[in-house]
Amino acid sequence: MNRAPTPLVSLPDPAAARRWCADWRARGRTLGFVPTMGALHDGHLSLVERALDENDAACVSVFVNPLQFNEQRDFERYPRDLGADAQLLEGAGCTMLFTGTLAGFFPGELDARGELLPAAWREPGPSATGLEGDLRPGHFRGVATIVERLFDVVRPDRAYFGHKDFQQTLVVKDLARALGYPAIVVCPTAREASGLARSSRNELLLPADRERAAVLSRALFAARDAWCAGERRPARLSAAMRTVLADGPATLEYAEIRDPERWTRDEPVGPIERAVALVAARLGGVRLIDNLRLDEPA
Ligand code: PAJ
Repeated sequence: MNRAPTPLVSLPDPAAARRWCADWRARGRTLGFVPTMGALHDGHLSLVERALDENDAACVSVFVNPLQFNEQRDFERYPRDLGADAQLLEGAGCTMLFTGTLAGFFPGELDARGELLPAAWREPGPSATGLEGDLRPGHFRGVATIVERLFDVVRPDRAYFGHKDFQQTLVVKDLARALGYPAIVVCPTAREASGLARSSRNELLLPADRERAAVLSRALFAARDAWCAGERRPARLSAAMRTVLADGPATLEYAEIRDPERWTRDEPVGPIERAVALVAARLGGVRLIDNLRLDEPA
């Protein structure tokens, strides 16, 4: 949808954002919220569009959250460009953007070394076990902790997350259930023409690797082909993915199947009625993840 350009309100800290959001809600208007770590792309913007469609305003946070990185190097080289992000958001008609520091989000809750005090952490629910939870210890604890705080700052009616990070959507739904708010809206994955899921980390890929990275989505599409041909055994569906990835350029971390509505640490054994295929691999030192519902139309 084309929107008339509106000036973007850009706020430098969570306290200012809290006041702006409280004022907005006090006027009886609804607020859609899109939490991000910046380096925005069309995937993020599709969430903003949806938030604008369903609410009186869309608010976006840009914060590279140190609590959720289990590798310091990954945190340090995560792409950052707040100026470009603000321009994209303004063009998309976004209402408010805010950012902050760890101390700004957790005032009085850091120790002398700048680390979060134990009481400030939020333990994630059962969806945090298996796959990303096992390979990135502490990652979902860091996500749950910042997302709870972001929700507390914004107090949104609805919050928008990408299917691209499927396990994260489950962790966030667990959190929203425990808090009693907000409604969680999960949006489809935006892909490049090659099939590669859009990701801020794609910017770290060398041009040749960016083309090669489409092997992840090809593996997912192979699993969907097998599903459409009637295959319901998780081991066979994941084998179809591994065949595609076997001789490719990517170092595979996992290619597995889960029942999307009954998350389990391990791949289910028997035939299943609903399926999501999930893959993680490294290419040129960059870790990429992707997933696809097999039981939904393309
Ligand atoms: P980030 O990776 O910046 O992603 C922000 C949101 O955009 C997430 O909900 C993510 O799933 C969604 N997204 C990313 N790529 C997408 C794509 N290709 N299509 C559609 N949506 C996409 O996820 C995080 O940040 C952080 O963990 C966060 C939730 C902000 C907590 O720090």
